[in-house]
Amino acid sequence: MTVSLKDITKKMGPRLLFEDITVTFNPESRYGLTGPNGAGKSTLLKIVMGTEEATSGTVSLPRRVGFLKQNTEQFHHQKVLDVVIMGNERLSKAFVEREELYSAEMTDEVGIRLGELEEIVHEENGYNAESDAEELLVGMGIPLELHQKKMHEIPTDRQFRALLCQALFGNPDALLLDEPTNHLDLESIGWLEKFLHDYKGVLVVVSHDRHFLNAVTTHIADIDYETLIIYSGNYDQMLLAKTAVRERTELENKSKEKKVSQLKEFVAKFGAGTRASQVQSRLREIDRLEPQELKKSNIQRPYIRFYPPEKPSGQIIFKASSISKAYGAKEVIHHLSLEVSKGDRIGIIGNNGKGKSTLLKLLAGVLPLDAGTLELGHQVQIGYFPQNHADILDKKSRMTAFDWLKKRREGVYDQEIRSILGKMLFGGDDAFKPISHLSGGETARLIIGGMMLCNYNVLILDEPNNHLDLEAVSALSWALQDFKGTVLFASHDRDLVGNAATKILSFEADRPHLFDGKLDDYFASKKKC
Ligand SMILES: Nc1ncnc2c1ncn2[C@@H]1O[C@H](COP(=O)(O)OP(=O)(O)OP(=O)(O)O)[C@@H](O)[C@H]1O
Ligand SMILES: [Mg+2]
Repeated sequence: MTVSLKDITKKMGPRLLFEDITVTFNPESRYGLTGPNGAGKSTLLKIVMGTEEATSGTVSLPRRVGFLKQNTEQFHHQKVLDVVIMGNERLSKAFVEREELYSAEMTDEVGIRLGELEEIVHEENGYNAESDAEELLVGMGIPLELHQKKMHEIPTDRQFRALLCQALFGNPDALLLDEPTNHLDLESIGWLEKFLHDYKGVLVVVSHDRHFLNAVTTHIADIDYETLIIYSGNYDQMLLAKTAVRERTELENKSKEKKVSQLKEFVAKFGAGTRASQVQSRLREIDRLEPQELKKSNIQRPYIRFYPPEKPSGQIIFKASSISKAYGAKEVIHHLSLEVSKGDRIGIIGNNGKGKSTLLKLLAGVLPLDAGTLELGHQVQIGYFPQNHADILDKKSRMTAFDWLKKRREGVYDQEIRSILGKMLFGGDDAFKPISHLSGGETARLIIGGMMLCNYNVLILDEPNNHLDLEAVSALSWALQDFKGTVLFASHDRDLVGNAATKILSFEADRPHLFDGKLDDYFASKKKC
């Protein structure tokens, strides 16, 4: 039971994503699928699942395959437990049809069909479906009282966990996961790492999370040079091997080029003369030595810089006094008081569900307070990056990246838009990609581009590193460190928080606590307690 790809090629418009991929993914090996944003990782997984067509080539799969989808929108109005059971399509369709038939008039035909459906339910182990789904959800940190709720009624990070349970439901023979750690906190990532470690089927997991890849994978399947190359070992080992192979080929090419130029010199000198046979043999040698054409690597780094407006903000940015926020009966922010000063770079850490996103939404003014007061300082202009990209950018829209940016600031010149798009790696025609086509990382880059365009003096970012590749995260880290305004950002990326934050707002204990120092100092102070 393997997942095998034969001669898979995919073109996207004028661009070739990859060519002639022939590879077999075996059970009991755990493959990380890597490559920069826009390389075609999600596309390749969709091709394997059959939801997207390859330009050419074939795929063979085991019968039951679990797939983690990257967006939750399509399930907004479904019950959490049902969403998990949908992981077994045959079973969940049988349940839906059975439900409909029971409420229809009973005829012979209906009776026969009900019998068939019962058979399917039996075959697919449907009598245990609910308890299996519950077990998965609880293991993923979603308590029983949320299982009957609609997806949109539970916090975003829980929705993603429910999708993960959907992929895991029904013991699939192969598991294809597209960036499973994006919306998980460190504790759940730990749970997932262990789960995947013990998983016995074929595992292919896309991720930009170095720590996670190193912990989970035995092989890396890397999309670059318009193909896919499998390296054995984890992510760090792949990077070493990839650089070594590249350097060796470059070196060989250099020495071949030198030799060829010497041979060509000889031919030029004696080509018209009497040494015909020697010239011929050198011409053959030149052909043989022709250096191997090196395809360009697709790794690129965006250039991120945020410039505050000319008029600076006042010294106090936010003064929150005893603010509270509840969803239904659940109070998430409870009488919190907080003062944020100009120039603060506050990293917000803590497990999912503790209220980080809620606090950021309250501060950004996209969610009203239930109680308390929030004073904004003089001339404060806030740029907000939501955890869920769809909150700010309609992924179904036919608008292009260019037009979306242009709408962000009135009267902006086209040239300025093109310049920002170029910095965000949307060069040439890519500027006019419809936003519905953008990959997760490309979407995040576009939102960041919007923040660069608008000259804010306060940036509020909710897990901005999700979806971004390593180059982009380090570019973002530099940009935050260089920014002359005020930043609040929530992240589970220890490197990003460690480098960019000068204060830590921790949601780890019962109450949020602001620590005046860097992440390392925060951890050291906790050890001392
Ligand atoms: N219909 C389309 N027409 C043209 N280009 C498209 C279309 N759909 C997607 N693309 C482009 O194909 C490329 C591959 O997209 P894909 O989502 O597979 O990338 P990815 O490797 O998963 O990236 P990320 O790491 O950001 O998730 C992207 O550049 C994307 O913009
Ligand atoms: Mg993707």
